[in-house]
Amino acid sequence: MAMPATVAWACPCGCRPSRTVSSDAYLKQTIRLGRPGRVMPRFDHLSAAEVEAIVEHIRGWHDGDRPVFSQARIEGDVQRGARLFSQHCAQCHGEQGEGGQGTGVTFSRPRDLPIIAPALNNPGFLAAASDAMIKATLMQGREGTPMASFREQGLSEEQINDLVAYVRSFEGEHTDPAPRVEEIEPTLVYDSPYGLEETVEAVERAAVGKNFRLIRRQKLEEGLFPEGEENDRQVIVYFCNFNFLYDALTVDPRVGLFLPCRVTVVEQEGQVRVMTINPKRLSVLFNNERLDQACDEMHRIYTDILEEATF
Ligand code: HEC
Repeated sequence: MAMPATVAWACPCGCRPSRTVSSDAYLKQTIRLGRPGRVMPRFDHLSAAEVEAIVEHIRGWHDGDRPVFSQARIEGDVQRGARLFSQHCAQCHGEQGEGGQGTGVTFSRPRDLPIIAPALNNPGFLAAASDAMIKATLMQGREGTPMASFREQGLSEEQINDLVAYVRSFEGEHTDPAPRVEEIEPTLVYDSPYGLEETVEAVERAAVGKNFRLIRRQKLEEGLFPEGEENDRQVIVYFCNFNFLYDALTVDPRVGLFLPCRVTVVEQEGQVRVMTINPKRLSVLFNNERLDQACDEMHRIYTDILEEATF
């Protein structure tokens, strides 16, 4: 079977390393700072040597130059840049440079868009990219992506400078409303005043009362230990609402990672606890308003179920 000569690779967050316009400094900063509120996490726990090694690895995907960009500001007319932006850029990057919606994973984005346009008002991007790098991106485009060369699209160098000045003007005005993932409790945990069996039944009743269909109940350790050796004081209840499931998967297929819904009931030293993951902890990673709404709704439902089961 014939293989394509080049395999286009794109990170869904849009940090596609292009051999012609990414400096090592840009790649390093992008890895370190991530893109707050977008899918790309920060890797500030890695050492300088580890980040360096990743950049070397990425560089190995292409041979070619490693551009170095001046850190100097590029002068341009912000007002004119704003008009050009809304004419030429906003349809992909959003009116305020907030980036395309979704995650880049197929079926959370329009099919005709192979890559989600990155957020240009993102503090991580603005800190990592120098004006000269942004300009080079506009002059040359990103080969193999929807990001065209705007020089080839007929814009003058002066207009491109205006655009760079406009993109830079996003700096400082961006108030990042998304909390850091570490600030959100990973799990919802409630103490139950009842015994294990009674609590499991109460969870099941509460889930059914919220229009869920019970899928099954099993020992938490089932499949992890030989049959009969699992801890039978740890039970997991699976339930599902197919309408909700369908809607959530359409917003972002990665929601599949935390579905079907499940509640774990654990007895430890005589105390029974019910617990579940906190959907808000997950949605903050996705920068998708519709998904935030779905996860807020799920958070409400989970809280209701846990409260009802332990009331
Ligand atoms: C057809 C959709 C589309 C249009 C129109 C478009 N872009 Fe892009 N842009 C993209 C995509 C997709 C990427 C990510 C490319 C990649 O993966 O390297 C991108 C990347 C960029 C980057 C690099 C961001 C980064 O994270 O490294 C900059 C800067 C940028 N665009 C600015 C602009 C500006 C300014 C305009 C208007 C003059 C514009 N783009 C028009 C789709 C578009």
